[in-house]
Amino acid sequence: MKYAIYVLAGLSLLTMPLAEAQQAAASSLKVPFKYALGKSLFEQHCASCHGQSGQGTDKGPTFMSPVYKSSHHGDAAFYHAALNGARAHHWKFGDMPPVDGISRRKLDKIIPYIRWMQQQHGIH
Ligand code: HEC
Repeated sequence: MKYAIYVLAGLSLLTMPLAEAQQAAASSLKVPFKYALGKSLFEQHCASCHGQSGQGTDKGPTFMSPVYKSSHHGDAAFYHAALNGARAHHWKFGDMPPVDGISRRKLDKIIPYIRWMQQQHGIH
């Protein structure tokens, strides 16, 4: 029993820095200048649920999943979800509410940035 606790504690020590390292690696992707505005708008409007690098959080799914490649969720689905919200159907996070303060103009910048991040992860 005691042993199991040591193993668990050891595991969490091992996995914590790994997750942080992965996050650091993802966020240190060199973002081309043309996506700079999209990145900051993404971080402002989407990252709280979809993660700083689109890797997901406990409030929303990762975009680095083949589910969200452009042939499966085209750009129209991104505009629609951000402007109108999305009903939970793929995951167990609950509904996505319409995003406060979002506009088509901002999405014109955000979506190409998401597509670029997906491409960096081999998701097209
Ligand atoms: C308050 C949390 C939250 C914020 C902020 C948020 N989302 Fe979501 N989003 C979710 C959740 C939860 C889902 C999963 C719904 C499901 O189960 O399919 C989701 C799903 C989506 C989907 C998939 C919709 C579909 O048709 O399946 C897209 C696209 C999306 N989000 C785009 C965005 C974009 C772009 C932004 C920023 C402008 C954003 N989201 C901000 C929570 C959020």
